Amino acid sequence: MIRASENIYEPKIAVLDRVTDEIPEVKTFYWHFEDPLEQEKFRKFRPGQFAQVSLFGIGEFPASLPPRPPEKETFFTIRRVGSCTGALHELKPGQRFGVRGPYGNGFPMESYEGRDLVFVAGGIGLIPLRSCIIYAIAHRKKYGRIQIFYGARRPGELMYIEDLRRWEAAAGIECYLTVDQADADWKGHVGVVGSLFKRPDVDVAVANATAFVCGPPVMFRFVIKDLLEMGFHPRDIVSTLERYMKCGVGKCGHCCIGVAYVCVDGPVFTYEQIRKLGEDI
Ligand SMILES: Cc1cc2nc3c(=O)[nH]c(=O)nc-3n(C[C@H](O)[C@H](O)[C@H](O)COP(=O)(O)OP(=O)(O)OC[C@H]3O[C@@H](n4cnc5c(N)ncnc54)[C@H](O)[C@@H]3O)c2cc1C
Ligand code: FES
Repeated sequence: MIRASENIYEPKIAVLDRVTDEIPEVKTFYWHFEDPLEQEKFRKFRPGQFAQVSLFGIGEFPASLPPRPPEKETFFTIRRVGSCTGALHELKPGQRFGVRGPYGNGFPMESYEGRDLVFVAGGIGLIPLRSCIIYAIAHRKKYGRIQIFYGARRPGELMYIEDLRRWEAAAGIECYLTVDQADADWKGHVGVVGSLFKRPDVDVAVANATAFVCGPPVMFRFVIKDLLEMGFHPRDIVSTLERYMKCGVGKCGHCCIGVAYVCVDGPVFTYEQIRKLGEDI
């Protein structure tokens, strides 16, 4: 609950612990709040929720949160695109930045219990979907089949490679990877992510399934078309919408699409809702 005296826009001070490289221009930033009380308050959020990250004197930007629990550490995986993300990429362990949140609706994972889960991601679209996958694996008995379809432009651009290898090897998870352009070492599938659906050894779960789709607009458009042709109902396809955000809490209107505030009504929407909002990508 927000107290009358609380400034909802005031970021809390975060300290960078360590940084790991993911793929070119994408790094993962592990951090904690300087104030242990803030750290304690910030211990539960659902996949698909986000935080506003502040780089002092530069600005703020939204970033997806990993699911807690089961993740024990808090981190952001961030692609360098402009001023704020670039400034975060320049920070060294021990340096400070600001965080406020968690915000947004997140994926209602409880509502998919008993269903098959089909994850389809392209490029850095795996950032929010990884959260759902980690959550689903942590609650494995509550879900049916777990299928992961992930594509990147080149083998060196496959994100979270250790997770991918673990999921490929895990019993009870069907994980299929593809790249647009192979290199000499790549022995796997080559083609856009939707081409995986047509492989003879692949049997996409449809009848009792929810499909999660995140990736660049062109991939999203083609994958949605494939899923609808396979028989998915638009309400059984979910995704996250990216919008330029300022306040993150439904006050400024920067993120509005039609009647929806992406920061509070989203960023997770069904494809049925996305179409109604006039966002038929
Ligand atoms: C809910 C939500 C969660 C997000 N989670 C992540 C995440 O986990 N990791 C991550 O790397 N990114 C994430 N993003 C995208 C991230 O917020 C933007 O890349 C960031 O705002 C860019 O800020 P900047 O100051 O570095 O870029 P700016 O200096 O503001 O912009 C640089 C260039 O990038 C373009 N740009 C800015 N924002 C976006 C955007 N959202 N989409 C496409 N182009 C954009 C601008 O038009 C400009 O051309 C998320 C966005 C949303 C809405
Ligand atoms: S970002 Fe201000 S209303 Fe959504």
